[in-house]
Amino acid sequence: MARVLSGIQPSGTLHIGNYFAMMKRMIGFQREHELFCFIVNYHALTSMTDAALLRKNTLDAALDFLALGLDPERAHFWVQSDIPEVTELTWILACHTSQGLLERSHSYKDKIAHGITPNTGLFTYPVLMAADILLYQANVIPVGRDQKQHVEITRDIAVRFNNTFGETFVVPEPLIEDEIALIPGTDGQKMSKSYGNTINIFEDEKTLKKKVMSIVTDSTPVEAPKDPEKCNVFALYRLFADAAHTEAMRARYLAGGMGYGEAKKELLGLIWEYFAPYREKRARLANDPGEVLAILEKGARKTREVAFPTIEDVRRKVGISYNAK
Ligand code: TRP
Repeated sequence: MARVLSGIQPSGTLHIGNYFAMMKRMIGFQREHELFCFIVNYHALTSMTDAALLRKNTLDAALDFLALGLDPERAHFWVQSDIPEVTELTWILACHTSQGLLERSHSYKDKIAHGITPNTGLFTYPVLMAADILLYQANVIPVGRDQKQHVEITRDIAVRFNNTFGETFVVPEPLIEDEIALIPGTDGQKMSKSYGNTINIFEDEKTLKKKVMSIVTDSTPVEAPKDPEKCNVFALYRLFADAAHTEAMRARYLAGGMGYGEAKKELLGLIWEYFAPYREKRARLANDPGEVLAILEKGARKTREVAFPTIEDVRRKVGISYNAK
């Protein structure tokens, strides 16, 4: 059994790309592993100034996870800032992290290349992420390709600290899922909030219909056979359908006589049904914000127990504590 940990940015409404690439997979780990899953609101501060929006996004992300089946009894589920020791560890780790290591961060360099004037929080982002991982002694970190280097920086920081002060941290491994196929948005590019092409998980029926019907297809006439592998509608259909339905749909594409409009209608029905039970659960939870807050508070208390021995060990090792033992 591994200790699997990953954090999620509270960036607003989550879409089906997020669901298949990350949330479904994370939630799946709770059955056979020790799952640590949290909402990274401190990281969000590097690029947000709207307090009300951050608060709303944080709770929305919590609602989404709980509605989609994250079980707070099995997993450790919390909001990053509810465990203040993480910022304490960030500072201590920062004092053992060379500036050059952070200057080599691709995501930092990318942001600068895009014209962003970086704040110091953005520069130290990977140290906070290292603290997120090392505080809980996690060993497996499922992340997207874009975050792989951050996990490598975490490894560097952990190894260096262990070498200086003796065994303190588990050195984590990134887990990158290569098979996750590209999930297209309505315009056929990768589904992403920044492209404005998302289909959200908890879309209302009318908007969902509008979005699915607007998925870009080619202009092959109804009667002609169609190539399912080149069709955005089919790429989404297969995520929701079982193998038998996927094969049946593939055959209909290849046979000709089915228009894209028909395939879209079937996809629409599938998406709506797939998320129906989750939608009900989300509505129930959204009606009871007190319960959600209680779940998060309990989650933070339970997870903080795991953080205490690590932070105490660190304080002792670096000399920030009156006890030498
Ligand atoms: N930086 C990650 C992202 O943007 C989120 C994150 C923060 C994270 N802390 C983490 C991921 C710790 C894994 C482990 O996606």
